[in-house]
Amino acid sequence: MAYEFIQVEPQYQPHTALVRLNRPKELNALNLQLMGELRDALKELDDDDNVRVIVLTGNERAFAAGADIKQMAGKTAIDMLNIDQFSTWDQIKKTKKPLIAAVSGFALGGGCELAMTCDMIVASETAQFGQPEIKIGVMPGAGGTQRLTRAVGKARAMEMVLTGKFISADEALAAGLINRIVPVDIYLTEAMRLAADIARMSPVAAKLAKESVNQAFNTSLDEGLLLERKNFYLLFASEDQTEGMQAFVEKRKPDFKGR
Ligand code: HXC
Repeated sequence: MAYEFIQVEPQYQPHTALVRLNRPKELNALNLQLMGELRDALKELDDDDNVRVIVLTGNERAFAAGADIKQMAGKTAIDMLNIDQFSTWDQIKKTKKPLIAAVSGFALGGGCELAMTCDMIVASETAQFGQPEIKIGVMPGAGGTQRLTRAVGKARAMEMVLTGKFISADEALAAGLINRIVPVDIYLTEAMRLAADIARMSPVAAKLAKESVNQAFNTSLDEGLLLERKNFYLLFASEDQTEGMQAFVEKRKPDFKGR
């Protein structure tokens, strides 16, 4: 499918797709069309059996500097309600395959929220994270008050959301928001290395494991443990479980098929 504001390479490396946000002049500001394209691309990649992991990136200067302020500026509350942009975000959240954000430069507002919607974040040394919506008279609307708080704790989240100040990659790592920091020239390579590590695993197990970890944010411990247990049992219906355990016994590498 042809997109205007994103670029998609379904086989950037074996079993790994790359999606690049591509509005460089606007620092990848997330307008409605871009978000719609991203939703459609992620759905297509999620349905593609040859793809096991998806990496989402921007460019060196910006992952994304937030929702498109110019597009939102004149809107009323009822316009926003009718546009219902968050149904797009809800669809993106439903991506079943592991999604890694490779972040360099600005990840602000909706950009920070998009990175946090991913399962892991690999950052360059230049990455900056922030929820600066308060500076333009609003507040985060795509998960910033919830996911950020869960990731970095109340004290830091409250400060970021109420002052709009950015945090550096170092601070983000110390706070538990991101997985790792690497030099700017290799942040995508490093994200791809992480993707390759996951792509070698059973994709069925990866999907159910992702679902189970995410459930930790939505349920009580007992409900989460129950889902975990059922997913664990379910994997014993997969060929990948047979192959994985057989390969261990035979002292060879498993060849997972995703079935
Ligand atoms: C629209 C944006 C934009 C945005 C940058 N641009 N961010 N356009 N929406 N969020 C545009 C600028 O207008 C400018 O276009 C060009 O990108 C380059 O930006 P500059 O400001 O000239 O660059 P710089 O001086 O380096 O400053 C970078 C910056 C600043 C610190 C990131 O651009 C900035 O503060 N941007 C807004 C960040 C923000 O408030 N994000 C939250 C948005 S609200 P021109 O045409 O002038 O050259 C939000 C709510 C999410 O995200 C709700 C859920 C979806």
